[in-house]
Amino acid sequence: MLDDQTRHNILSRGKPEPKDFPWWGEPNLGGWYTEAEVEAAVSAIRDSMDWTTGFGPDAKVIAEFEEVFAEYCGAQFAIAINSCGTGLDLAMRCLNLKPGDEVISPAVNYKAAHMAILDQGGKVVFCDIDPRTLNLDPVDVEKRITLRTRAILPVHMNGLSAPMDELLDIAKRNAHPVYGALKVIGDAARSCGASYKGTKVGAKGWMNVFSFQTQKLMTTLGEGGMITTNDKKLGDRLRNMRQFGGEQQWGSNYKMSKVQAAVGLVQLRRLDEMNAKRKEAAKRRNELLSGVSEIILPYEPRDCEHVYYVYSILVKHEWAGEGRDSIISVMNDNFGIVCSISNPPTYSRWSYILRNCQTQPLAVSDDIGKRLFCPPLHPSFNEEQELYICASLLEAIEITKNKMAC
Ligand SMILES: Cc1ncc(COP(=O)(O)O)c(C=O)c1O
Repeated sequence: MLDDQTRHNILSRGKPEPKDFPWWGEPNLGGWYTEAEVEAAVSAIRDSMDWTTGFGPDAKVIAEFEEVFAEYCGAQFAIAINSCGTGLDLAMRCLNLKPGDEVISPAVNYKAAHMAILDQGGKVVFCDIDPRTLNLDPVDVEKRITLRTRAILPVHMNGLSAPMDELLDIAKRNAHPVYGALKVIGDAARSCGASYKGTKVGAKGWMNVFSFQTQKLMTTLGEGGMITTNDKKLGDRLRNMRQFGGEQQWGSNYKMSKVQAAVGLVQLRRLDEMNAKRKEAAKRRNELLSGVSEIILPYEPRDCEHVYYVYSILVKHEWAGEGRDSIISVMNDNFGIVCSISNPPTYSRWSYILRNCQTQPLAVSDDIGKRLFCPPLHPSFNEEQELYICASLLEAIEITKNKMAC
């Protein structure tokens, strides 16, 4: 842990560059770009300038990006799309839900998965999470299965894979009377490159949906996504759906552009390097913050590789709500550091979800929603910036201790 004297020395030097800008919990660019991405984009544009070529959707570079991405994940097929949100919409369409059909998904989540279920007339069945991993809890999932359950929709939370083997086992043992084994669909928006028991996120499950939005671990010019699957029929269906349905079925336009794919190929080549920097930063942070009894640092199971999309911290139980909020405001007001809360239960954060879903108390999720906060982490923060974040956090904890004692 940083000792008091070092902490004061760091803070007395003031905020490192950029000084006049708040440092966001989820920085505006998830990785970083190099000249290679710029050249790839320019070259894809040059390649499209002839009227005989253009930006056609059948561009080889899109197929190449899909092939390399599938190989990276260890999946058989990858389908490039324009975002993870629309990919989750497609996933729900592929379930052909009937009114009242249920999809189980963790409450501690971004809202995209729950919006997708609602859009297809499905019922969101919230499940609880494991407080150490922040991923859904398989035991709680199994308790929520009914004859109407069609799918389990975990999010690979904050850079850590969901417990896929347990979920696949539950899905098989609790088959739907008409549709067979429940479908397991992963929201992998925040976990590109993470691994689980020696496989990459994207290899297991009916399908996994990735995001290349600007804040994500790799990005295709700010928007974009990918679906991976090992089911050929499903892959073909998705490919048709993203291009107005082919001959037989419903579809619209969910396509990624050629320039995005060209940039995506470069970002994917560099993904492990960018993620390695995140992991190094998290490890360094674990050292600097270890032994502070007011907080619990992120947990990485032995058989998983966490890629730290965010660095999730919990305050101790007694500080739920007031103590956590105090740390966040001191970090913001005194040090210009904006912590994100990634994420409280969606029904407590977004009124649309609350209005349209049936909720019931979820002991762990409701508690985590009051204890979680994420100070910014970025693969290109330097040592000075890292030290400043940790020193600010320790100072915020000291200030909060005094407040809570009053
Ligand atoms: C967990 C999760 N799922 C889905 C999304 C939506 O991704 P996109 O912006 O690519 O639609 C996000 C964030 O953007 C996310 O964090």
